[in-house]
Amino acid sequence: MRYTEDIIEEVRSRSDIVDVVSQYVKLQKKGSSYFGLCPFHNEKSPSFSVNRDKQMYYCFGCGAGGDAFAFLMEYENLNFPEAVQHLAQRAGVELPEMEESGEDRRQRDQKSALLGLQKQAAAYYHYQLKQDCGAQAREYLKGRGVSPEIIQQFGLGYAEKSGGGLYRYLKGKGYTDELLHESGLFQMDERRGMYDKFWNRVIFPITDVKNRVIGFGGRVMGDGKPKYLNSPETKIFDKSRNLYGLSRARASRKKEILICEGYMDVIAMHQAGFTNAVASLGTALTAGHASLLGRYTDEVLMLYDSDGAGVKAALRGIPLLRAAGIRAKVVDLKPYKDPDEFIKALGPEAFQERLARAQNSFLFQIRMLEAEYDLDDPQGKTDFYRAVAERLLGFTQDLERENYIEAIARQYGLPKEQLHKMVNSLALTGAGMRRQQERREIQGPENAAKKKQDTENARERAQKLMLAWMVDQPEIFGKISGYLKPEDFTTPLYRRAAKILYEQQEKEGAFTPVRVWEAFEDEEERRKMASLLNGDLPAGLDRGEGKALTDILLRILEDSLQEQRKNLKPGDIRGLQENMEKEIGLKKLKMDRGQLHISFE
Ligand code: CTP
Ligand code: MN
Repeated sequence: MRYTEDIIEEVRSRSDIVDVVSQYVKLQKKGSSYFGLCPFHNEKSPSFSVNRDKQMYYCFGCGAGGDAFAFLMEYENLNFPEAVQHLAQRAGVELPEMEESGEDRRQRDQKSALLGLQKQAAAYYHYQLKQDCGAQAREYLKGRGVSPEIIQQFGLGYAEKSGGGLYRYLKGKGYTDELLHESGLFQMDERRGMYDKFWNRVIFPITDVKNRVIGFGGRVMGDGKPKYLNSPETKIFDKSRNLYGLSRARASRKKEILICEGYMDVIAMHQAGFTNAVASLGTALTAGHASLLGRYTDEVLMLYDSDGAGVKAALRGIPLLRAAGIRAKVVDLKPYKDPDEFIKALGPEAFQERLARAQNSFLFQIRMLEAEYDLDDPQGKTDFYRAVAERLLGFTQDLERENYIEAIARQYGLPKEQLHKMVNSLALTGAGMRRQQERREIQGPENAAKKKQDTENARERAQKLMLAWMVDQPEIFGKISGYLKPEDFTTPLYRRAAKILYEQQEKEGAFTPVRVWEAFEDEEERRKMASLLNGDLPAGLDRGEGKALTDILLRILEDSLQEQRKNLKPGDIRGLQENMEKEIGLKKLKMDRGQLHISFE
């Protein structure tokens, strides 16, 4: 089901984004934008901006961004046609009648049937737990200290030994084999036909944020293998976008969310009063989890198992959380393995103390990094500080970065200014990074890969800044476009954006940022575009200085030249010629840079 471009355009042009957002968020004018508290993550100071000229919103904290349709989709949880309908009604635009396509309806019906089925299954398992056959499971839970109230709250259940009960039960309710198969709760066997996936296990229903059952985990009672068996992913169960316990945790009214690895950990924490606990259920934390968490909190405490695997999982999860605008802290549970065991051994007060002593995730990362270097060796020490500086670059907000520079300098007894300088030089030129990696390259292929990655990042930063700068101050476009073509942007994402922006200038003599954003469909790409178009700058960089702009221009041209040369086929004389001309042009530009009057005051 689709509306035509014309209709969408009409609705868009009659819906001012500032008005739309104002209905949900209190906005205050500051400069050319409006600011308010971001509705998509928890925050105390406003980093959510809405810009009338650009007809876009963007949160500098969590990176949420888009046009009026995207805002409604995100805020009201609507799909695109629904957002169009909503705004059309508001703006008094009459929409043509829309027929839902047969396929759309089928999908929707199937999803709601699957949700109904999972709910019935949960009720069935829960009922079994209370029957005679559930005695052993009740004993097991009791043995692990799970209270009857928690059993009720979490709807725990039991899948009985014979392993055919659920199938018969749901067949009796009239479900087709096709749907039963789609539910992931059954397995097929040529001889036996369809039979229950879970048998003789304690059952943990997994719910989505709206508290609808979407899947199950089942634990053996005792030492059998596998310890846990989980529903496979289905049309309604996406493991990377759901967290066990979230429907309860989000209602806990606590500022932060606790994230751990296991079912029993969540249960033990809730029972001990830590009702803000969730688990990622055996799968590693994903960007989907992080953005889900970002809707409900801006602080997450990580309670991963205190073994090597747990530390690794924490280290992998931190950047994802940070990217979603979440402050992460790491809780040390030693000498206990997981929250369940800790609480059992030391009780809720001691647990609360550990939570209060959670370590800031950045300092945790640095502590783990430190172990990789020999700080007694001058070279090792220098390399370590460089690595630290590189990581400090990851903070996009000046004040935040500043605070960390201070904390690290204090911790390692290093002059603050020195660390500061290191970070800045890395940021502006990427040269420091290159030098460092040349040394690393000698040390092995893994580091060579890392070098490539970092050079990539420096390249990308330059391209992003250039485009952000142009969009923000369109008057520089005229001065830059003579030197820089869209093809000079080597990162495909930015090249595509540049093409659209250049075309807009050519055809309309102005930028329409929202159009650029709209041209991208992938969620991740859209995020990056929203950040660029709304002037979210890479760390350590600032607009408004002619020299910096010239540096960046030269850097992009140089990268472009290199890239072109790298891709030159042997015997491509014309390409070679072009490349040489380009090089001469660039040399000349460099010599003339004193006269290169790119000044934007
Ligand atoms: N897990 C899983 N499948 C397994 C093992 C683990 O899905 N075969 C998931 C479960 O969500 C489990 C979590 O990973 O809760 C953590 O696993 P582990 O630390 O091994 O178990 P615990 O949570 O400590 O389980 P319990 O306390 O019940 O022994
Ligand atoms: Mn455990």
